[in-house]
Amino acid sequence: MAAMTKEEPTAPPVATREGEARSAVAEARKAGRSIAFVPTMGALHAGHTSLIEAADKGGAFVVVSIYVNPTQFGPMEDFNEYPRTLDADREASARAGADLIFAPAHDEMYPPGDQTRVRPGPLSEPMCGAFRPDHFEGVCTVVAKLFNIVHPDVAYFGQKDAQQAVVLRRMVRDLCMPIQIEVCPLVREEDGLAMSSRNAKLTAAQRKQALCLYKALCTARDRLMAGEQTIGGIIAAMRDTIMESGPAEIDYLSIVDPETLEPARKPAGLVMVAGAIRIGETRLIDNMLVETIRD
Ligand code: PAF
Repeated sequence: MAAMTKEEPTAPPVATREGEARSAVAEARKAGRSIAFVPTMGALHAGHTSLIEAADKGGAFVVVSIYVNPTQFGPMEDFNEYPRTLDADREASARAGADLIFAPAHDEMYPPGDQTRVRPGPLSEPMCGAFRPDHFEGVCTVVAKLFNIVHPDVAYFGQKDAQQAVVLRRMVRDLCMPIQIEVCPLVREEDGLAMSSRNAKLTAAQRKQALCLYKALCTARDRLMAGEQTIGGIIAAMRDTIMESGPAEIDYLSIVDPETLEPARKPAGLVMVAGAIRIGETRLIDNMLVETIRD
């Protein structure tokens, strides 16, 4: 008897033009489907596919966008080196349940003469915003454009980019966009490193060292859960954990309210421990939600 082979799901169609994406979405709506949307910059890993799987659960028509958005990269950042892996992304999206990939050509997102931007407010200023000044303006602008093309009922983002999720939630509220924002849990490698498309750029030695950020978050979590109240002391211990690992540059280490992103002066209830470091040329971010003892 011939061996049975498990059939791979058919890769979803790729729309590169705004009109194609609009038509596919309109057809799905006509067929009675709701629209779920997962915006990405490609180089998909298990963190992304967990978002696509979550989007697929409710039976919605799932659109995944793949677009490396230039306006969210600073002039000295890694836009040109950002991994571009459309074929592999298409297969990964198919396995996770995507119905359509929208991989727009650059001039679809930024037509010649484009000059309008969506400027977020103070939620975009601390943490990553303090080190990447125009980053969240670029994110809000491209996500608003994508939302205007895809018109999703619900959009999925990862907790890994916690500040992005907070800023975008506020954007849809402030700009009256009738879109539900779902934030899915951060996905880690087996040893704890937060999954990121940028991990692929780490050398073997840097990959080992990169775990220091996760270890620093664990240090903070353990101290907070043991009832330690001095934020300064906890952050100093995080800094030590990172610096012991080898040469790294710390952008920030913070303990904040997960909704307002304001520094937690005295931990009480849910807090977010977050950080960003640079190892060589690679910038890594990570965060952890920690339930501390309420007064
Ligand atoms: O999280 C990302 O990958 C990007 O910031 C997003 C939301 C796709 C916008 O380019």
